[in-house]
Amino acid sequence: MIDDIIVRPEQTTDVNAVDVVNISAFEGEKEAQLVADLRKSPYYIPALALVAEVHGRLVGHIMLSKAQLNRRGLLSEVLVLAPMSVVPSQSHRGIGTRLVQEATGRAQRMGYRAVIVTGQPEYYQKLGFHKGSRWRLYSTLPVPDSAISAMELHDGTFKEGDTVQYPVEFLRLY
Ligand SMILES: CC(C)(COP(=O)(O)OP(=O)(O)OC[C@H]1O[C@@H](n2cnc3c(N)ncnc32)[C@H](O)[C@@H]1OP(=O)(O)O)[C@@H](O)C(=O)NCCC(=O)NCCS
Repeated sequence: MIDDIIVRPEQTTDVNAVDVVNISAFEGEKEAQLVADLRKSPYYIPALALVAEVHGRLVGHIMLSKAQLNRRGLLSEVLVLAPMSVVPSQSHRGIGTRLVQEATGRAQRMGYRAVIVTGQPEYYQKLGFHKGSRWRLYSTLPVPDSAISAMELHDGTFKEGDTVQYPVEFLRLY
């Protein structure tokens, strides 16, 4: 773990450095493009798009954006986590963990009720997320439901059979 890391909301002056972090972590441009698309969308929450800085260098990024939870046609607001990235040279030092803790903590203080993430269940379950199957959650993404993990920020947010409606911007990843 490193203690000289600063986590803060991204600024417009960070855009190019955030691109570099995402392109290097994902070895491609799809996620950087997703970030650009989400920033222009109504789902973007500037206070929940965070960067990690070590010695003035931007080394990590995370985004929580608005999504809808659909319960038999009744919609409520939740958050989806993606993308999240740490530059390869700084990985396995706890930066990703700090980004998730900071983003979910801020989201809870802002009154959001839950965060959903798709992919790498083992990683997110170490960070306080549970398998979506705990609540039999579905999503609108073309991925197996077993790829969904979720965290309630407010107990009782999920009910069996809820579907997470991702912003359409996410479909470009598939
Ligand atoms: C996933 C990622 C953000 C983790 O960042 P990080 O700063 O290395 O994470 P942390 O140091 O906080 O956590 C490391 C622990 O998480 C686990 N972990 C890290 N990357 C993982 C991965 N890709 N899959 C599964 N588990 C992983 C390991 O158990 C690791 O523990 P260890 O260091 O003792 O081996 C980073 O590896 C990354 O940017 N990967 C490429 C992009 C990506 O896949 N993003 C997530 C999907 S949106």
